[in-house]
Amino acid sequence: MVLPLTAQINEGGHLEIGGCDTVELAKRFNTPLFVMDEMTIRKQCREYLSSFRKLDKNTEVIYASKAFISIAMCQIIQEEGLLLDVSSGGELYIAKKANFPSEKIFMHGNNKTPQELELALEMGIDCIVVDSENELELLDKMASEKGVKPDIMLRITPGIKPSTHNYIQTGQVDSKFGFGLADGIALETVKRTLEYKNLCLRGLHIHIGSQIFALHSYAKAIEIIMDFTKQVFDETGFSATEINVGGGLGIKYEAKDEPSTIKEYAEVIVRGVQREAEKHGIPCPKILVEPGRSIVGNSGVTLYTVGTIKKIPGIRTYISIDGGMSDNLRPMLYDAVYEAMIANKANFEPVSKVTLAGKHCEAGDVLIKDVKLPSVEVGDILCTPATGAYGYMMANNYNKQPRPAVIFVNKGNATEIIRRENYEDLVCLERPLK
Ligand SMILES: Cc1ncc(COP(=O)(O)O)c(C=O)c1O
Repeated sequence: MVLPLTAQINEGGHLEIGGCDTVELAKRFNTPLFVMDEMTIRKQCREYLSSFRKLDKNTEVIYASKAFISIAMCQIIQEEGLLLDVSSGGELYIAKKANFPSEKIFMHGNNKTPQELELALEMGIDCIVVDSENELELLDKMASEKGVKPDIMLRITPGIKPSTHNYIQTGQVDSKFGFGLADGIALETVKRTLEYKNLCLRGLHIHIGSQIFALHSYAKAIEIIMDFTKQVFDETGFSATEINVGGGLGIKYEAKDEPSTIKEYAEVIVRGVQREAEKHGIPCPKILVEPGRSIVGNSGVTLYTVGTIKKIPGIRTYISIDGGMSDNLRPMLYDAVYEAMIANKANFEPVSKVTLAGKHCEAGDVLIKDVKLPSVEVGDILCTPATGAYGYMMANNYNKQPRPAVIFVNKGNATEIIRRENYEDLVCLERPLK
């Protein structure tokens, strides 16, 4: 599954998603356009809940909203019974605007500002995942001033390097995130945390990275964190009631990708924690997971219009579309690879390799280096699948490009859940000198 679950080719030979003709969507809402299939998102949420709860009724699935957040998305997450993880005040504010229940929100961040912590405390969110000594001190002081005692977890760096791009590895020793195990800092921090009067330690958190296919990295990380849980218990008497193993399950960006399934992932996580708890003779903590990409990634596609075609004889053909690094930074950030198709020629055979370039003033603004497509013409609607996660969220206004609209499609209905920015939006924060 690279395309959304409901994708098919309709009678007109066009790509259809959620019962909507994507070529019609491009006409109606203009391009670039993010199209997200509601059914795929809901199916992934259900697959997560059922896979984990089948093995252990007491698990929680927390959607990592950094992958894609909007008011409508929060509504779906709530309806599907998942909890929500936010990693900034902005994400928390969107959750608040969506009336997402505060008692179902977790907050992350390696440098939460006092304003962000203030909002979290005011809203009374379920749990703050503390990332540093400075944050512990600050949070304890703020909680004391407010007369509250927030629940917290500590983010631990397990010293694991999963096989994924360097920029999305987070669990290795040399990481800006969390308290290191190897240097003994994590143990010292747990001891100190238990002395803070205004913080209630609930458990430990790890997140080893993102777009991970091989599950053995998770098994190893669980072994390490459960060894640590036992060490903490022996040395302090503190018994972690919860273990949060983060997110990171990989998805299919290309047909040849073979990520593990949610069921296989659940099996490794739940059985791993249970086995380790039994091995150490400690109570099995409640298991929390935080998937982002694997909930929304394959639900989304981006539609573009082809504007110019430049043929360099014997070298390559550049097909330029009306977006690029302003709506999909991942190829430029970490060489992420995508597939492409022509939405209005969905049943045409590919004939030659071309390079898909963006419209920005950067030579590196290339979405796909060599992609085999049917004969491309100006005006064709190009579609890149698997852009539902970390696409719109990393969108920017480089070259003062207005950010695209985001459309949810379901059963033939298209709903604009984020409108397209216009030029007025681009200047609305500006003030002249006088
Ligand atoms: C703490 C934490 N949890 C969960 C996630 C979600 O990861 P993914 O989208 O790969 O599932 C991230 C992603 O960076 C993260 O930093």
